[in-house]
Amino acid sequence: MNPRWLLLCLAALLMPITSTAFNILFMGPFPAPSHWMWLEHFLRDLLQRGHHVTALTNHRAKYVHPNLTEIIIDPQFNIPHYFPKENIFKMRYASDFQNLQMWFHVGLLTSEYALNDPKVKALIASKDQHFDLIILEQFFHESFLMFAHKFKCPVVTLGTMGYADNMDHTMGLLTPWSFIPHLLLSHTDQMTFTQRAYNTYLSLYDAVMRRWYYMPKMQEMAERHFTGQVEGPLPHVRQLEKNISLMLINSHRSLDVPRPSMPGLVNVGGVHIKTPKPLPHDLQTYLDNSTHGVVYFSLGSYMKSIDMPKEKISLILNAFSQLKQNVLWKFENSSIGHLPPNVKIQSWLPQNDILAHPNIKVFITHGGIFGTQEGIHWGVPMLSIPLYGDQHRNTIKSVRAGYARTLNFGQMSSEDLLQNVRLLISDGSYKQKALEASRKFRDNPMHPLDEASFWIEYIARHKGAPHLKSYGAYMPLYQYLLLDVFGCALLIAFLAIWLPLRILKFLGSLLRRQEPEESRKKRQ
Ligand SMILES: *[C@@H]1O[C@H](CO)[C@@H](O)[C@H](O)[C@H]1NC(C)=O
Ligand SMILES: *[C@@H]1O[C@H](CO)[C@@H](O)[C@H](O)[C@H]1NC(C)=O
Ligand SMILES: *[C@@H]1O[C@H](CO)[C@@H](O)[C@H](O)[C@H]1NC(C)=O
Ligand SMILES: *[C@@H]1O[C@H](CO)[C@@H](O)[C@H](O)[C@H]1NC(C)=O
Repeated sequence: MNPRWLLLCLAALLMPITSTAFNILFMGPFPAPSHWMWLEHFLRDLLQRGHHVTALTNHRAKYVHPNLTEIIIDPQFNIPHYFPKENIFKMRYASDFQNLQMWFHVGLLTSEYALNDPKVKALIASKDQHFDLIILEQFFHESFLMFAHKFKCPVVTLGTMGYADNMDHTMGLLTPWSFIPHLLLSHTDQMTFTQRAYNTYLSLYDAVMRRWYYMPKMQEMAERHFTGQVEGPLPHVRQLEKNISLMLINSHRSLDVPRPSMPGLVNVGGVHIKTPKPLPHDLQTYLDNSTHGVVYFSLGSYMKSIDMPKEKISLILNAFSQLKQNVLWKFENSSIGHLPPNVKIQSWLPQNDILAHPNIKVFITHGGIFGTQEGIHWGVPMLSIPLYGDQHRNTIKSVRAGYARTLNFGQMSSEDLLQNVRLLISDGSYKQKALEASRKFRDNPMHPLDEASFWIEYIARHKGAPHLKSYGAYMPLYQYLLLDVFGCALLIAFLAIWLPLRILKFLGSLLRRQEPEESRKKRQ
């Protein structure tokens, strides 16, 4: 056989693979482990599909992959230093305005911190790098959008916390505050007058703060770090935001309020939930042998149980000791003291695989979005003890849906905890609602992760997708709201009514001025 022909054949065979392997810059500058754990599911799937990924992150991967390049922000941003955990346990972040300010603040601090890392600086200064696509967490890191300008490539963002008004705006929609509650609020789409008024106030406050306080700071930050590293004048991050091609959002139709959308907003809630892996042997037998069932307790990956005030720990242990169920507690310090015989602690637990076990009766959680979705997926009733951020919202929604109860961490007593856990187990309606929610949550046309990867590759294939958003994104507000049209119509209506009236009045006065003379003549 002609060797040239063979070579051609080989090239043709390889063609589809090489032409679809993209070079992706994947950025998760936010240091909280739970965020990266969610983002990593996307990253791993992209690697499996044969793409090359450069990951800018705070967390080193636990595996090696030939096509993964890591840019590790090291040392990591010290969140507890800026946001002491005592304050969180003291419920300092209970108001919506405090939470909003905390997010702006933490976003500015962590973005600045990450951009100052020498390896990130080297990426900014790099001359020979090429990327087909940038993926960025959609979480208060707008200065990072300047990388899209630097590398001249399209952007996909991953919305960890669900929808926010600014995502609608970048896709060309104004969020209707009459029936879409703010990201931090737990209202349904049927709001009372007071709820609508408060929603409008909070949403407006968010929009104004973002436009005139937060985004200018992001722009200033981007300019400080990118000036001189890119040719020509730098665009505004607000322009770059409007250039985002696609947003993959942690939201699910069965859990969130229905909202007007754009083709560039895609729901991928549930991406992080996979078929369970086999449990470690000791856990498997522990769960199998717990004939009365198991209560699983975890405050997530950021808030550690060791940071809890001492009196709370003994209060919790006291409640647990009175349960006939076993308790599995993600507790990071083995010097907890005396443990009741039915309580088992471990510093790390495979949460998804544990929740999938049929003997789990109740999940005691802080109401974080990822854990809540796992609880729903596996149909486990939840006792939610929210601490900050979106946890209050997630909790209220779960309670309203009927598969959860809630407690205030600051005020709870041993008796409260015990009663709530017992009720969640003894009253069958919680389990029934949990199973209903689970069936709706799992009923998807395809696994959300497959859908997400399809859209990511779609954006890379087409080198951006301006056709997934409406022109509304670029319109000035007065045009979007048709103020010019209504204004013009009002003007016409005004002129059409006022002008003839004015003329009639003028004519009338002319006639009246003549009339007295005539009547005088008549009398004479
Ligand atoms: C890494 O990328 C190369 C070239 O794109 C590809 O041929 C190879 O299969 C990838 N490796 C893995 C383990 O996916
Ligand atoms: C927006 O994206 C397009 C295509 O991806 C690009 O040509 C344009 O320069 C971008 N705009 C800005 C302000 O970067
Ligand atoms: C679990 O139960 C099995 C059979 O019921 C028993 O053989 C085994 O020893 C038990 N394991 C533990 C750790 O209690
Ligand atoms: C565990 O708790 C003890 C007592 O509270 C403390 O002295 C110790 O440093 C803690 N260990 C870790 C690893 O946090």
